[in-house]
Amino acid sequence: MSEAVRTMMRMDAEAAQEAAAQADAGFLWDFWYPAARSTEIRGQKLVTAMLLEVPLVLGRTSEGKVFAMRDSCPHRGIPLSYGRLDGKVVACCYHGWRFDACSGQCVEIPSLSSQDKLKVERIFAGHYPCEERDGYVWVYMNSPGTHLPETIPAAPALAVFGDKYKVTHLSCELPSHIDHGIIGLMDPAHGPFVHQSWFWRKRGSIHEKAKQFEPIPNGFRMSPHSPSTNSAPYQLLKKITGEPVTTTIDFVLPNIRTEIDQSGKMWFSSRATVTPVRRDICRIDFVAAWNLFFLPVWIFRIFGKIFLRQDQETMIQQAEGLKHNPRLMLIDDADRPAKWYFALKANLIESRRTGAPMVHPMDGPVTLRWRS
Ligand code: FES
Ligand SMILES: [Fe+2]
Repeated sequence: MSEAVRTMMRMDAEAAQEAAAQADAGFLWDFWYPAARSTEIRGQKLVTAMLLEVPLVLGRTSEGKVFAMRDSCPHRGIPLSYGRLDGKVVACCYHGWRFDACSGQCVEIPSLSSQDKLKVERIFAGHYPCEERDGYVWVYMNSPGTHLPETIPAAPALAVFGDKYKVTHLSCELPSHIDHGIIGLMDPAHGPFVHQSWFWRKRGSIHEKAKQFEPIPNGFRMSPHSPSTNSAPYQLLKKITGEPVTTTIDFVLPNIRTEIDQSGKMWFSSRATVTPVRRDICRIDFVAAWNLFFLPVWIFRIFGKIFLRQDQETMIQQAEGLKHNPRLMLIDDADRPAKWYFALKANLIESRRTGAPMVHPMDGPVTLRWRS
């Protein structure tokens, strides 16, 4: 067996081991995830990030294109982020191997002599498709040890209506497994307890609600409806426009919740993604855009931060309890969206395994009732 073949086999075994280790982490591969804010990636800086326990190094070529490589030199594994970017090529700090930043292809091994036959161009650093959208650098995380599909979908885009609007971004880290991050995000029953604020709602305003949900590809939608009568901001919007407010909320795999509120010509559109960093950490990235003239960015940010902080504090407390591996419950109807999430995820994994079409856990519209 040639040395090259032996090395390749070892690498296959490593990839298989890595795939096995990550199988129980509960990650959904082959999707786009936001890795960093666009504004962080500038000049010749190499920036580190982690998605689904994969260490990444991000940067921007002199032509302005963002790239994402695995933050590990294929020679001896030192993080490439300790190296240098010269605008097009990343050079490792250890033996100076040079890699094309966008393709990961090795372009030079300085130690090779004129006698060496090694095919430099056959060596690749791990690299991932990378796109910029809505102020984020998105990275397409194909599962370990697999090749990229021929075509990959475009990175998600926030819905906007017209070209004059305000936009802002918020983020916060949660000490939670991705599943807890996501079911916390879609949970309708924690509002009156976690998000009690004078500006939002009081605990006493809790009342019974009935909302219709419908299946959509890879997710579900809370059908367009008028939002809660106990939320002050919606009431204000209605007063100002004199027209009804409608809200549509979608959840789609792997991790995206979008909400669109419209009243006459006024609109507010937001997206929250919960991204697995490691199996015990996830991050909420929240972006919102709106044309409501009475809502300055700074005011929105003050309230948005309070909101996220309330969720974050709750998740920190929950993590304390989850350390002891308690048995948990999902109840009807308030936890039905969480049940759909788990079923969607399991069915997607199953359909990818078998190649059969994905079975949607909902067979049509359904009305859920809860008090919040
Ligand atoms: S470890 Fe990177 S060049 Fe040797
Ligand atoms: Fe919340």
